[in-house]
Amino acid sequence: MLMDIITIDGPAGAGKSTVSKELARRLGYLYLDTGAMYRAVAWAARHKGIIDIRQKEGLSGLCKDLKLEFRGNCIFLNGRDVSPLIRTPEIDRLSSAVSKVPVVREYLTKIQRELGSRGNIVAEGRDMGTVVFPQAAHKVFLTASLEERARRRKRQLEAQGKKIRYEEVLAQIEARDREDSTRSIAPLRAAPDSVIIDSSHLTIEQVLEKIAMCLKEYK
Ligand code: DC
Repeated sequence: MLMDIITIDGPAGAGKSTVSKELARRLGYLYLDTGAMYRAVAWAARHKGIIDIRQKEGLSGLCKDLKLEFRGNCIFLNGRDVSPLIRTPEIDRLSSAVSKVPVVREYLTKIQRELGSRGNIVAEGRDMGTVVFPQAAHKVFLTASLEERARRRKRQLEAQGKKIRYEEVLAQIEARDREDSTRSIAPLRAAPDSVIIDSSHLTIEQVLEKIAMCLKEYK
């Protein structure tokens, strides 16, 4: 199908990245990690010493000077691969904060739509099905219980050699959920025409099977 767009939205830790990447690989589609874009902007702001994220002027100037590009699954900022630098608890928090700023959302939404205009894309984020690609043919809202998401995040951090208490991860995820779903622009929510999948008791393969069934039903 030409111009096919599949959106995968949901809260942190629901398994969106693994599922989206694998789905894109199987279909031969482009994988668009929009969380990485917010993370890269947050990292750039931090790098430039913009500490107060609500400083709109600073962020507006910052966005004008940014060149973001994906090469494979890596994200480059003005030619520098920042992929290894953007997955830290500090950037978790800062990316959630910059994502509330309208000028940042406008800047990234425009780039995301340009990338999506070629079609055949799996777009992962928080507002893909609601705001960026409301016309998408397939929309998935992938969620999981807070506790399961915290367990997964803890395992992920441990795999990177980072020790953190379960209660701390739980509190961080809870705070990020609250920030992402209560902001005034493009809050995290399921598009009314999305298929909601709860991955709490499903393996990645089972989630992919469910999505494949939805795609088949449509075609
Ligand atoms: O998916 P992630 O954890 O990498 O996203 C990091 C932050 O970016 C998340 O807290 C909310 C924000 N985000 C957003 O507001 N809209 C998107 N489409 C993707 C991410």
